[in-house]
Amino acid sequence: MSLPEVSISQSHHNTAALVGQACPTCVNDVLDTERCRLARDTISQWASYESTSLHSLEGLASEIGIGALYYKDESTRFGLGSFKALGGAYAVQHVLRQALDVDVPNTTVSLDDINTQRFANKVKNITVVTATDGNHGRSVAWGAQRFGCQCMIYMHENVSRGRQEAVEAFGAKVVRVAGNYDDSVRQADHDAKANGWHIVSDTSYPGYMEIPRDVMAGYTLMTTEAMNLLPEGVIPTHVFIQGGCGGLAGAVGADLWHRYGDKMPHLTVVEPVPAACLYESARAGAPQLVNIIDESLMAGLSCGEVSLLGWQILKSGARHFLTISDAPVAPLMKLLATGASGDPAIVAGESAIAGLAGLIGALGNESLAHEMNLNESSRVLVFGTEGATDPDVFEALVGTRAEHIAP
Ligand SMILES: Cc1ncc(COP(=O)(O)O)c(C=O)c1O
Repeated sequence: MSLPEVSISQSHHNTAALVGQACPTCVNDVLDTERCRLARDTISQWASYESTSLHSLEGLASEIGIGALYYKDESTRFGLGSFKALGGAYAVQHVLRQALDVDVPNTTVSLDDINTQRFANKVKNITVVTATDGNHGRSVAWGAQRFGCQCMIYMHENVSRGRQEAVEAFGAKVVRVAGNYDDSVRQADHDAKANGWHIVSDTSYPGYMEIPRDVMAGYTLMTTEAMNLLPEGVIPTHVFIQGGCGGLAGAVGADLWHRYGDKMPHLTVVEPVPAACLYESARAGAPQLVNIIDESLMAGLSCGEVSLLGWQILKSGARHFLTISDAPVAPLMKLLATGASGDPAIVAGESAIAGLAGLIGALGNESLAHEMNLNESSRVLVFGTEGATDPDVFEALVGTRAEHIAP
């Protein structure tokens, strides 16, 4: 299969990024190593935990002209099909622990008590709620079922029926909201206050920082696994990560910085054109709101409001911000599903390919590749953040059902 054309729609070189420096205090203040370690230790104790794979795509690396390409494949994560399983469900565990700390006098409730359902009769009366365009809600609903509490999920009108059904399969109640993702966030917030429910959001905003901080800490398990799976002594020169609200990209940036210090790779954030809130924020030097008019096919990235925590890390940690159109989505999903030049076949969902698309687009743009120092000796890490999280959408775009793609 020939290599799809990818053009970068917009690019911003973030000259405010700190280069060749140890992880700065401003990043550790957002996400410290202890919080991240607690998240990784806790999640890796959940039943059925397994690290996901890191594929070395040698065929594709040589086709696009770089030294090595590593693809972290989140399609098998906990059977939920995306890295999001690491964040929302972990935050539910924290929220329940805190709620019980108030509810159960003279006892210190631990995260393990929640995992083992020690206070099941109390937990079943607690309700967690979130707005979602799919994957985060699935994680929260799955966590609620796992730990035994009630769950309400708010979805805007463009979220597919398949994504609604996936959330309902974990016993959550779905409320549909007219408008876009940000409208569903506002409605969920309003109803939570009115009903005494606990919001478990993946994005942070003024007055709501601690839970998204734990969501991000959970995400660092994905980066840590990837770094542990790289061949000994290999440090990526570049990392391309897709951005929605920026919680994921911020978590990846912090975890890379914690591990690699002054050898922090060149981090690039890639977003869909209609939802480029991180790109606009980088250009303006401060968080910007983007009013989403057209929904991108990359549904998980269709977010107009930046995570304040994510932004705090990315403003000094990300060196480039790129945007792409939906044009390369289906061709790149097909390319990965077919397996380029002897590479393994990979099930990659619509939002999974954005980082890879950014890499291919940057390499195809001579001046940008030069500015980013991308060349035949680059070792690049990308994250395939989801598999076929909506199997019907996957089939429509790739032409094959995901279960027929052999690894
Ligand atoms: C598959 C996938 N990739 C990437 C992201 C982006 O994550 P964030 O919104 O934290 O930037 C999302 C968000 O939902 C997602 O579902």
